[in-house]
Amino acid sequence: MKKNPQTALIHAPRKAPQYISTVQPPLFRASTIIFDNTDALFNRHWTDDYDYSYGTHGTPTTFTLGDNIAQIEGGTYSLLAPSGLSAINLVNSCFLSQGDEVWVADNIYGPNMEHLRNLETRYGIRVQVYNPIDVATFQPTEKAKLLWLEAAGSVTLEFPDLTGLVKKAQAHNILTALDNTWGAGLAFNAFDFGDEHLSVDISVHALTKYPSGGGDILMGSVVTRDKKLHHQLFRAHAIQGISVSGDDVAQVQRSLASMQLRYQHQSQSCLTLLDWLKQQPEFVQVLHPADEASAGHEYWKEICSDGQSAGLVSVIFKPEYTLKDIRAFCDALQLFKLGFSWGGPVSLVMLYNLSDMRVLAHTHLQQGLLVRFCIGLEHPADLIQDIENALKQLNTQKLE
Ligand SMILES: Cc1ncc(COP(=O)(O)O)c(C=O)c1O
Repeated sequence: MKKNPQTALIHAPRKAPQYISTVQPPLFRASTIIFDNTDALFNRHWTDDYDYSYGTHGTPTTFTLGDNIAQIEGGTYSLLAPSGLSAINLVNSCFLSQGDEVWVADNIYGPNMEHLRNLETRYGIRVQVYNPIDVATFQPTEKAKLLWLEAAGSVTLEFPDLTGLVKKAQAHNILTALDNTWGAGLAFNAFDFGDEHLSVDISVHALTKYPSGGGDILMGSVVTRDKKLHHQLFRAHAIQGISVSGDDVAQVQRSLASMQLRYQHQSQSCLTLLDWLKQQPEFVQVLHPADEASAGHEYWKEICSDGQSAGLVSVIFKPEYTLKDIRAFCDALQLFKLGFSWGGPVSLVMLYNLSDMRVLAHTHLQQGLLVRFCIGLEHPADLIQDIENALKQLNTQKLE
């Protein structure tokens, strides 16, 4: 058929080949997906893992990354979301209904708690808080539906009693969802951990951190091993219109190849900083699960048996250091940039006032303002020098 130029511009003569071999998988961008014929249109079914019918349901690009994340984490099925927080919210909105009870650790990622408090006010979902290192504080009633876990907590870095908590949840028929961002599927296997080969039901991962690795892309995933759970999530994902950009997915896919190397490097650099930070007189406490003095260290040792941990370490300044002092310290840092998130190439610092962040009384945390360091890919000696310079500046100012 001879085409007018306007049509020819849209229907190009060369068709992309079905398959050529490249290092990175091909990138599909799609809202519309074109069916071969009406048979293909009428025979599609949303429960097919690879039902290509519309962009929000997924493309080969999104399924490729999803399968990779599921594999890294030891799960089977995966869904992608536009941020880690939206992946968390997908789980909450999928499994919680009016009158249900949800249990969250006191050190849970703050915006997850905020989302649940919002559901509590609007829909009468009961939010209960437990101490992650004390299973006895997890006291579910028959209304309990969901237990949120985080290993380790991303600010105070307590490693929870995963074994005790998951066993208790299973005994009460409660779904377990782990925010697996810290472990990234590398420090431990959330679907097969400890001597008893326990498994969580759902693993949520902020791919924004280590999988992206660039500090420039937001994304999240929800991984399961159970087909029924996956289909429940898949349905909620579809009706809520949750989808991700093919371009962003391709970027994360490209970064996956170096993820384990980056994780190991940051884990190691962080341990070097931990040793040095522990010797500094300005801090009343240094928090890192690999440190024997940190709460939950024995659980970390049991679960993360290869000795791995994310590149996060927190310090609590002695109470004589005021908020003004801590702000001056953070402002004096040169290499550590002030910003939220972690897992990227640039080291980050953030300050927190724990008294605004915790519901339960915690005897394992000292009084004082907390600063969290997220270790990037810089040389650890330069990072130590940066902190040393900022501490010197702080102490000089304090004497003036
Ligand atoms: C432990 C943890 N979970 C989830 C998230 C949310 O990820 P995102 O920033 O992609 O929404 C974050 C972000 O800081 C986090 O630290």
